[in-house]
Amino acid sequence: MGNRLNVAVVGLEFGAEFIPIYQRHPDAEMYAICQRTRSRLDEVGDRFGVAVRYTDFDALLADPAVDVVHINTPLQLHADQVVAALEAGKHVGCTIPMAVSVEDCERIVKAQRRTGLTYMMMETTVYSREFLFVRDLYRSGALGRLQFLRASHHQDMTGWPSYWDGMPPMYNATHAIAPTVSLGRHQIESVQALGSGAVFDRMKDAYGSPYAIESTHLRFLGTDLGAEVTRHLWAVAREYRESFDVYGAVRSFEWEQTETAGHVMHLGERPERVAVPDFADRLPEPIRAFTTGGVYGDGSEHRSFTQGGGHGGSHPHLAHALLTAVRGTGDGYPDAVTAANITCAGLLSHRSAVEGGTRIPLPEWTLGDRAAFEIPLDQAAEPPWTGQTAIVP
Ligand SMILES: NC(=O)c1ccc[n+]([C@@H]2O[C@H](COP(=O)([O-])OP(=O)(O)OC[C@H]3O[C@@H](n4cnc5c(N)ncnc54)[C@H](O)[C@@H]3O)[C@@H](O)[C@H]2O)c1
Repeated sequence: MGNRLNVAVVGLEFGAEFIPIYQRHPDAEMYAICQRTRSRLDEVGDRFGVAVRYTDFDALLADPAVDVVHINTPLQLHADQVVAALEAGKHVGCTIPMAVSVEDCERIVKAQRRTGLTYMMMETTVYSREFLFVRDLYRSGALGRLQFLRASHHQDMTGWPSYWDGMPPMYNATHAIAPTVSLGRHQIESVQALGSGAVFDRMKDAYGSPYAIESTHLRFLGTDLGAEVTRHLWAVAREYRESFDVYGAVRSFEWEQTETAGHVMHLGERPERVAVPDFADRLPEPIRAFTTGGVYGDGSEHRSFTQGGGHGGSHPHLAHALLTAVRGTGDGYPDAVTAANITCAGLLSHRSAVEGGTRIPLPEWTLGDRAAFEIPLDQAAEPPWTGQTAIVP
């Protein structure tokens, strides 16, 4: 590896959003791009000024100059591509979910162990401004003991590529599951789920999944803390929403109901609106602007603040986390074992729903040996307020 890490971005729809970030990151060389269609490959390459271009993923992996592969292809391809990239000696960041079967998650965990290279699941929600804000508050003691967590991901996938049709909602629930796990770095011990409502008949056979909504209860390892997660993909009327509510003994955080409503912090029974900062100061200066938008290769800017469009300002944090993990100065969270715990919790929740709500334990290989960060109830008297932002009156 040279002074700068040579990054290759694979899959250039969602993936293209990361190109200008790597181009400005001081530790990265935005070296190569890859996607199947030559015309789209050239369009993106010309737009951002990336010279090295591949239509074939294996040819990209054979390029010895590539240090890091950031994969953003359809979810059914993640497992094969991640394992191939690790086996080819590349560090890997891969978008969500880790894979679409428990067996494929295990293949990635084993490949990461075998090679010792970085694998990071590029989960946007745990690098969103809201998550960073609440995590800081929790760690400072301001929330007190965690008592319950609730998260949701509502999204209507009408008009998305057809490979999504009929997918069980919990197969792509990492945006909602990950924040519940990540706040205290807990691990999911078991799941118990309910399927509700119906999807369109034409979708029911694809995965044998009939439900409009799946809702799951997560039980965490070594603690009495639990969480509930709700997910839908079709035929439910609701604005796009990724959310999590955190119920502490002292303070609770509730996600905005709609894009314009604003988040709420409860101190005891007293609710107040809160403003959430961007945490751009935690990033190298050249990529800070991407917490509120992006600057493309041609100098044009786009601004995106919403969860659906900008994923809570997470993209530069994610790119930075991947690069620091490869450098050995960051932990690349969620790592392979954690990503498997999060992803398999969704996959097994669907199984639980189909089985009428059986409680299903997570496989042992999705559990690490680290302890969660917990605050005892008797320390939950009024702690010092160390929040980064003022409570808006
Ligand atoms: N917030 C988030 O984290 C977030 C948001 C959007 C999408 N995603 C994830 O990103 C992934 C891609 O989503 P999308 O909407 O961009 O999908 P898409 O189908 O629109 O685009 C997929 C891209 O992958 C490329 N591709 C497909 N097969 C390939 C192959 N064999 N080799 C190289 N390139 C290949 C395609 O050419 C295309 O550029 C999905 O897994 C999705 O879950 C995550």
